[in-house]
Amino acid sequence: MKLRGQGKSVLMLSTVLLAGPVMAHQSGDFIVRMGGIKVAPDVSSDAFDSALPVVGGLEVDVDDDTQLGLTFAYMVTDSIGVELVGATPFTHDIILDTGGSGVVIGETSHLPPTLLAQFYAPQLGPVRGYLGAGVNYTLFFDDSIDDAVVSPLLGGADVDVKLSNSVGFAWEVGADFLINENWLLNASVWNIDIDTEARLYVDDARVDKIDVEIDPWVYMVGVGYRF
Ligand code: NI
Repeated sequence: MKLRGQGKSVLMLSTVLLAGPVMAHQSGDFIVRMGGIKVAPDVSSDAFDSALPVVGGLEVDVDDDTQLGLTFAYMVTDSIGVELVGATPFTHDIILDTGGSGVVIGETSHLPPTLLAQFYAPQLGPVRGYLGAGVNYTLFFDDSIDDAVVSPLLGGADVDVKLSNSVGFAWEVGADFLINENWLLNASVWNIDIDTEARLYVDDARVDKIDVEIDPWVYMVGVGYRF
């Protein structure tokens, strides 16, 4: 009788421990996550045609930017989700790589919507980790060159750089820390293949185009709401 009672207590205790304080994500759940999101480009650029004045033989670089990130996930099963990643538009300096920190010659803005399939690992206590893979579309807009910096170098000519849009592979690693049935903390990292063509125009005539791989690491830390 005594043993049976102890056994029952142990069983109840282990059931509580195994169930964890909060129920895991389940099929049909929506999870909205938001927070600060940073795009840190890992640029590799071709060089402009060495015959060109001023920019000849030089590469371009793109700096970091942080915005408000917003992701929507839907659990298709208890362990498979689909996620759409969005953010307020990013704006990056376009830098002419002259050595050292380079020369800022303008800026570009972009929106990088990304759609991923996610696999969620079994929950460990309050923590649920996941991996994802999918596709990114990056729309560059408002590419602008600072005429005050660039024009005087080219005898007053009007210079423009246009970046082509990009479609590429993206993958992610993330983790949720469940606070209660609705709220969670989240940290996520994505690597996105963003390959663009930078087209250089002088007085509206295209004089060169170079391939620029932006391939950023993207980091988000924030809160989530599950319903
Ligand atoms: Ni790439």
